[in-house]
Amino acid sequence: MKDYFEFYNPVSLIAGQKCVQSHLAAELKLLGCKRVIVLSDNYCNDNGQLKIVRDNINAGGINIGGVYIDIPFNGNLVVVKRIADLCRINSCDSIVAVGGSSVLETAKCVKIVLTQNAHNLDELQGYDTVRSGYKMPMILLPVMCGSGSEVSNVSVIRDRIHNNKIEIVTSELFPNASLIDSQLIANLSKDRVLDSAFDALANAIESVCCLQHNPISTRYAYMAIMIIRDNLEKALKGGKNTINLQKLMEAASLAGVAQSSSMLGSVHSICHGISIILDVNHATAVGEVLPRVLKYNIESSKEMYGKMLFYILPESEYVSTPKEKRAEVFYTFLHDWYMQLKRGIKDMKTLAEHGLSVDNIDEITGKALMDGANLTNPRHIDDNAIKLILTNILEGKL
Ligand SMILES: [Fe+2]
Repeated sequence: MKDYFEFYNPVSLIAGQKCVQSHLAAELKLLGCKRVIVLSDNYCNDNGQLKIVRDNINAGGINIGGVYIDIPFNGNLVVVKRIADLCRINSCDSIVAVGGSSVLETAKCVKIVLTQNAHNLDELQGYDTVRSGYKMPMILLPVMCGSGSEVSNVSVIRDRIHNNKIEIVTSELFPNASLIDSQLIANLSKDRVLDSAFDALANAIESVCCLQHNPISTRYAYMAIMIIRDNLEKALKGGKNTINLQKLMEAASLAGVAQSSSMLGSVHSICHGISIILDVNHATAVGEVLPRVLKYNIESSKEMYGKMLFYILPESEYVSTPKEKRAEVFYTFLHDWYMQLKRGIKDMKTLAEHGLSVDNIDEITGKALMDGANLTNPRHIDDNAIKLILTNILEGKL
């Protein structure tokens, strides 16, 4: 059916500096939570985010039935099962998760296991394979400005036994609320700010170009791109004022809403492949993969790139770019901007320095080809195209 689309996002987004203090406990009470499990990781434990969250749950007089902080990056099925057991033993009725996408997506999987009474998450892999289960309130608090996991219906989790990533897409994964508070990312290192902001950009851009794009998610994506343009460099300069970080977090959530409604493409399939083989976060790969996949997709997305150029460049530069050049300028600008910002960050590693080499290109390609994100990429992608993109990254060619 031509022009048909669906858009649905039920997440209550609460954003603002120190909104954890002003809103977390009240939100939990509103949802009827009596005994919460708090999920996080060692990073948040060491850097104070977990303490802020725990203190504010306690201050609201809500019971904490358990705390689990051993969630590794690229969370996995074994950890999901362990946490679900802990919830059952301690009779927890709700979940609060504070962390990066690994923590948030682990939390979503825990919710699915508990509410579906599922034992094998593998079977729930795919799109809308989950029936609506009993209600288990969940509040997510991101500590990065990239994945948008806090507003999405997606969870990507590692299956270590088969060395794969399992993707689950279902409205049951939406949290009830997300709190977007820049005090949680005030001390985020610059390399993480840059990589997560480019992850948010990739989420926005792929949501505009992918086969399931729709007019509402596209507008969320445009807004996200513009906010990142206006705030990324200021946020990287640092300083005590976290207003630019707050804006980047909000942009990441807008991009998350966009991609959650429309899906992604091969930037993410290749980044997921790299993430599995090099054992890095997928955001680490986005800055180098994004412009090259955009170049590959240009014939299918030329008009969209031209439109998005308006949101990424200052207006005067956009206007002075000839129409027929806009698509090419779009991905070239993204490439040059990322490399320039990266050079300004001391000791920030390239993908080659993370271990990408001619020896693992085949293996990464194999993983990327199996990834579901290719299904909505605007142009069919095959192993030769992926290998060429990875080779170009190694050789520093766009
Ligand atoms: Fe992403």
